[in-house]
Amino acid sequence: MRHATLHQLKIFQVVARHLSFTRAAEELYLTQPTVSIQIKQLTQIVGLPLLEQVGKRVFLTGIGRELLSVCHNMFEGLSRFEMVVADMKGVKAGKLQLGVITTAQYFVPRLLGPFCEKFPGIDVSIKVVNRERMLQRITDNEDDLYILGQPSEQMDVWVKPFLNNPLVVIAPASHPLAASKSISPQRIAEEPFLMREWGSGTRLATEWFFNERNLPLKIRMELGSNEAIKQAVAGGLGIAVLSAHTLALEKIGDELTVLDVQGFPIMRQWHVAHSKGKQLSVVANTFLEFLLQESKAIAQHHLPQAVHDFA
Ligand code: PGA
Repeated sequence: MRHATLHQLKIFQVVARHLSFTRAAEELYLTQPTVSIQIKQLTQIVGLPLLEQVGKRVFLTGIGRELLSVCHNMFEGLSRFEMVVADMKGVKAGKLQLGVITTAQYFVPRLLGPFCEKFPGIDVSIKVVNRERMLQRITDNEDDLYILGQPSEQMDVWVKPFLNNPLVVIAPASHPLAASKSISPQRIAEEPFLMREWGSGTRLATEWFFNERNLPLKIRMELGSNEAIKQAVAGGLGIAVLSAHTLALEKIGDELTVLDVQGFPIMRQWHVAHSKGKQLSVVANTFLEFLLQESKAIAQHHLPQAVHDFA
């Protein structure tokens, strides 16, 4: 392997990710013959096939998979080294991959504005997922840091709460209960309900609240995102429980209102987490510090008055 170049290994990694020479060439801004030649030379060096073509489809061989895992470790090590060097030079630079729960997708970009201004060399990418997918991403060690609701007790993660995430009952502004005070959960359970998809933490918390009181809900519809729920509530299809943060962009009062229900808001918290064994990069540590220091002030600034008090 001493004759293999980093360039060849990088190309192999990209081909293995796409399982396509054409798409790898596009991503790397190379021609397809260049990609093929480099993979051919790498295969000759290894002395065993790394990829196999069946019809038009490309597959990794067993030894190809082995090499891919070596490449991952090697490039991760190199990028960590790059960050240590950058840090010693006094520059915070590098890549940061965040896994963010759907309810926090309204808030995290607000935080990233000032963060990226302060650290322009840091390149952030965000993956927004629901609770179920988030737990899977943590198991698969996909991101540097995770911003999630309730962590699962079975997970071996370092975790710290950093901000309240109040869940509120929302209804169309014209709803007959809009002006009522201290509505009972029984009365709420009579209304048609719009529910998030299975696997959502918001859904879990809502079900838990009403189950605990032996109040079956009349679920009228299941929708796969907070935005879809808000639109359906505004359209008069029913009421729903959502994170107050999902209302951050709304002019509350125009189309939606927060009902005053006993037992609400359900007070949850957002947590920042990383796998316990993970050695955090300088960049991830920088973000973590920023998040813990700045998030409260930024949330205060961006939440609408109607939900301010809860958060
Ligand atoms: P989710 O978010 O409903 O998208 O899973 C849950 C949470 O904020 O805990």
